[in-house]
Amino acid sequence: MYGLGDVRFFDRIAPLYDRVMPPADGEALAAGLDHATRPIDRLLDVGGGSGRAAAALTGPEITVVDASLGMLARAREHRDLSGVAGDAGRLPFRDGSVDAATVVDAFHHLSDQAAAIEEAARVLAPGGALVVREFDPTHPLGRALAASEHAIGMESRFRTPADLAADLAEAGFDPRIADRGFAYTVVGVRE
Ligand SMILES: C[S@@+](CC[C@H](N)C(=O)[O-])C[C@H]1O[C@@H](n2cnc3c(N)ncnc32)[C@H](O)[C@@H]1O
Repeated sequence: MYGLGDVRFFDRIAPLYDRVMPPADGEALAAGLDHATRPIDRLLDVGGGSGRAAAALTGPEITVVDASLGMLARAREHRDLSGVAGDAGRLPFRDGSVDAATVVDAFHHLSDQAAAIEEAARVLAPGGALVVREFDPTHPLGRALAASEHAIGMESRFRTPADLAADLAEAGFDPRIADRGFAYTVVGVRE
């Protein structure tokens, strides 16, 4: 099921979201996607919201998947992106039908993180890459971010890079920590 608390929050702030957020780090995402061992023609941006991260990527055909209709409307109307309403834990795509998936600043908002990883593994073709950009809760800025999100009632659950990499390994990915810091990137290549 959707993490309705956080999704409702994003529905409410959708009109403001892109005004307050800095652009996504396209270089870090592209470097993560480089770990795929197959060409990336089709990419899902899961929890892609208003398409902020998708807008930082060039090349593949991108579909933004999000549970917030308000955020998806921004992706469609303001960025002319293809958007599909859906839960990261029950992706409306066929097995092995995509070459890459990104989850940017969204993993900690997902109500069922294990299901989201399993679903990414299911929809990715062998050699495809799952690229997760997240925030490290052991970094001082990560601690502050977690505290501020919890203070406004969000249900965020942050994973360390090592824990997320271990979760990906358990789901059948070959994981690596591509970069570290307050924001970090973990990549899993589908075996
Ligand atoms: C902080 S926004 C990030 C949006 C975008 N990835 C970006 O980098 O700007 C988190 C997004 O996760 C979405 N989300 C939360 N839970 C979800 C779920 N279970 N399935 C799909 N999307 C979800 C929210 O609706 C929201 O758009």
